[in-house]
Amino acid sequence: MSDEGLSRRSVLRGAAVTAVAGVAGFAVAATSEAADDTGAATAANGYGAEEETGQRLAALADIPAGGGLILDGPRVVLTRVESGGVAAFSATCTHQGCTVSSIEDGLIVCPCHLSRFDLATGAPVSGPAASPLPPVAVEVRGEDVFII
Ligand code: FES
Repeated sequence: MSDEGLSRRSVLRGAAVTAVAGVAGFAVAATSEAADDTGAATAANGYGAEEETGQRLAALADIPAGGGLILDGPRVVLTRVESGGVAAFSATCTHQGCTVSSIEDGLIVCPCHLSRFDLATGAPVSGPAASPLPPVAVEVRGEDVFII
């Protein structure tokens, strides 16, 4: 074997080691990025973390008897029947997903196609919505209403 042959073999072996190391490094980096991407997507789409429980939604005094209060942030409608009981529903209309916008004549009103929902039960009363507004579990603690 000549020195020239050893030298060529050494260069080829060195190139092969470099290529393997490069592929391994890429694989580790790609795996790390995939893990980071998964976390970012989970946080961004809102499905990753459960809704915080115990969040204060409103003061009881801010919910008129026989009326309600629509909260834009948590998209919740808090209602209060004449007897004083508090109910809570999703503010997302079950027809096509608009946010309900007002309480009129004792009914929760969706502005998009004018579905109206019962204040105490969330059941559709008129308009195209066929399903009730989903209930939201809340409790009154002292003078405030909390999501549970
Ligand atoms: S989206 Fe509410 S009535 Fe159509």
